[in-house]
Amino acid sequence: MSLNTIEINRLMKRFDSHASVWLFGYGSLIFKADFPFLERRPASIRGWSRRFYQGSHDHRGTQDAPGRVATLVPEGGAICHGMAYLVTPEEFAHLDYREKNGYLRLAIEMSFEDGTTAEGIVYMATNNNAAWLGPASEEAIACQIASAHGPSGPNSEYLLALSRALHELGKQDNHVQAIAHHLVVLLEGKSY
Ligand code: SIN
Repeated sequence: MSLNTIEINRLMKRFDSHASVWLFGYGSLIFKADFPFLERRPASIRGWSRRFYQGSHDHRGTQDAPGRVATLVPEGGAICHGMAYLVTPEEFAHLDYREKNGYLRLAIEMSFEDGTTAEGIVYMATNNNAAWLGPASEEAIACQIASAHGPSGPNSEYLLALSRALHELGKQDNHVQAIAHHLVVLLEGKSY
């Protein structure tokens, strides 16, 4: 099921008067920056873990066969690594459209590699949104990802691009790596 969050996100006015805002990306926003930005820097947020618990009916799956994409779940002590982009507030019209299937804009503090911090925005899909799929074993998640396909392409492409981008950032995410491992085994199995 999908839920369009565009109207809710438009009500988030917190940074509208700022000349620029930091956006923290942890999923496709790491590897697909289809918007202009003033600056890009590796960053992290504390107290959140990346999980493939969000359904995708509009990008990497369909209404009948949703894919699975990344969201964040609270976890004490966890650090989620990603990429921060400094954007002008006008970019949020495009970003709200892109992230409309259940993601809400939330204010978050992010840390940069030089030890400085900034408050900015993250798109997060919480467990009460209509497209939420929730926990499953990493093998079951890989199975779903292996077969899902949507207007933005195969769900496997999302997972493997994220895994590659994290590797390039020099960051390890055990959840992403475990799913990617199962996916590669499944895809290799299919070609024989
Ligand atoms: C993000 O990348 O920060 C949000 C989730 C996504 O678009 O994959």
